[in-house]
Amino acid sequence: MINIGVLISGSGTNLQAIIDNIENNYIPANISVVISNRKNAFGLERAKNHNIDAVYFNRKNFETDIDFDVAIVSELQKRNIQLVVLAGYLNILTPLFVSNFRNRILNIHPALIPSFCGKGYYGLKVHEAVLEYGAKITGATVHFVDEGADTGAIILQESVNVLNNDTAEILQKRVLTIEHKLLPVAVKLFCENKLEFIECPDKRTIVKVLAD
Ligand code: GRF
Repeated sequence: MINIGVLISGSGTNLQAIIDNIENNYIPANISVVISNRKNAFGLERAKNHNIDAVYFNRKNFETDIDFDVAIVSELQKRNIQLVVLAGYLNILTPLFVSNFRNRILNIHPALIPSFCGKGYYGLKVHEAVLEYGAKITGATVHFVDEGADTGAIILQESVNVLNNDTAEILQKRVLTIEHKLLPVAVKLFCENKLEFIECPDKRTIVKVLAD
């Protein structure tokens, strides 16, 4: 059974979607630890409510980003974590973190990558940018994490129509519903070894989802 570590910074509704789908036996895995870089992240409570270890790491206790990530990586290694899921973790991983879990870190982004992503595109800002641009379609993306911001190989995407009267808050909610569906599917595919990496001629890596 795959051992998952989930990193969060906030409410943790995506974490909840993974917990629920493990408990109903859709995902063959278990969550060994939930780590937050925010003390009051509600996701920590969600973890405790399901008897999952919940740990807060305070960046202020570390001198550099690397020191901070070294501490988190060793916490994950100590627990034999095989898959790291970023579920609303508002912090960019250092290359050190990524190299320790190469091709074993998933992230969920609330837009259709490569649009409305990268540095500065997080939370409500993503949906504000979609509305400001006048895009008619947005959505959610689950992807592997590499050294860049939202540049890793895409696993799954699903679109959401942008409606005339949408506000960023309304759009965020509609996209979040899709996220809760998409992330558990991607975690399941990973756990069942159904994601194949394909290297393209330009050295980019893409992911092929293997059918049953
Ligand atoms: C989600 O929109 C996710 O895509 C983004 O941060 C948000 C986290 O929400 N990375 P929650 O904490 O899972 O409720």
